[in-house]
Amino acid sequence: MNTTGLAIIGGTGLTAINGLEILRREVVSTPYGEPSGPLTHGRLAGRGVVFLARHGYAHTIPPHKVNYRANIWALKSIGVQQVLAVAAVGGIRADMRPGWIVFPDQIIDYTYDRPHTFFEQDLERVTHIDFTHPYDQALRRKLIAAAQAAQLQFVAAGTYGATQGPRLETAAEISRLERDGCDLVGMTGMPEAALAREQGLAYACCAVIANRAAGKSRKDIHAEIDVYLKQGMDQVRVLLESFNAM
Ligand code: HPA
Repeated sequence: MNTTGLAIIGGTGLTAINGLEILRREVVSTPYGEPSGPLTHGRLAGRGVVFLARHGYAHTIPPHKVNYRANIWALKSIGVQQVLAVAAVGGIRADMRPGWIVFPDQIIDYTYDRPHTFFEQDLERVTHIDFTHPYDQALRRKLIAAAQAAQLQFVAAGTYGATQGPRLETAAEISRLERDGCDLVGMTGMPEAALAREQGLAYACCAVIANRAAGKSRKDIHAEIDVYLKQGMDQVRVLLESFNAM
């Protein structure tokens, strides 16, 4: 195991971390099938971390095909205790600006047909996890402190609407999400967060706003993503170093 029990799940735009000194890769088999790839053990800012690219190291696994259960199970099985989930999102609320980072504090789940629980068979008893606060509060606070220390541009809270993908949303769908109270939209936030809670892992999300959500800008969405995803992920690398140095 690493020294800190910290794992980083990298999303679109973060299949590798600059500055991560790679020590070894570990292939983990799980009862739920294959994780997105081998777990990468490394050191960042002098501390041990485990890295996993959610969409595979060659970015070949779409959001609805990610084996979220295998990923979370694999991390838990090697002794990980904390998970920082990095994800690209679209900004819905006006202050969710492309290139900025958000640390969401709530989720609304619109995904479907994804294996979404570890508690479905061979049960000794039915388990209902408490998901009132879907993200670990202490981990969020530490992320916010790290972002402040590194003087990054970030929004400290927001509701993450998790959509099925892989297509982007319609303008009407985004209006509906907005009426529901979603501030940002992404395709990978669920069931990952709930599975982490089921396994007793402290889990928090670091979302990079890659674009304004559908219908929220006259700019071409893909052109925006091309510019801001890289800019945002560069900020995430700074954030992760700041976080690990704390
Ligand atoms: N919608 C859903 N997922 C996303 C978006 C979006 O606009 N941008 C990046 N991931």
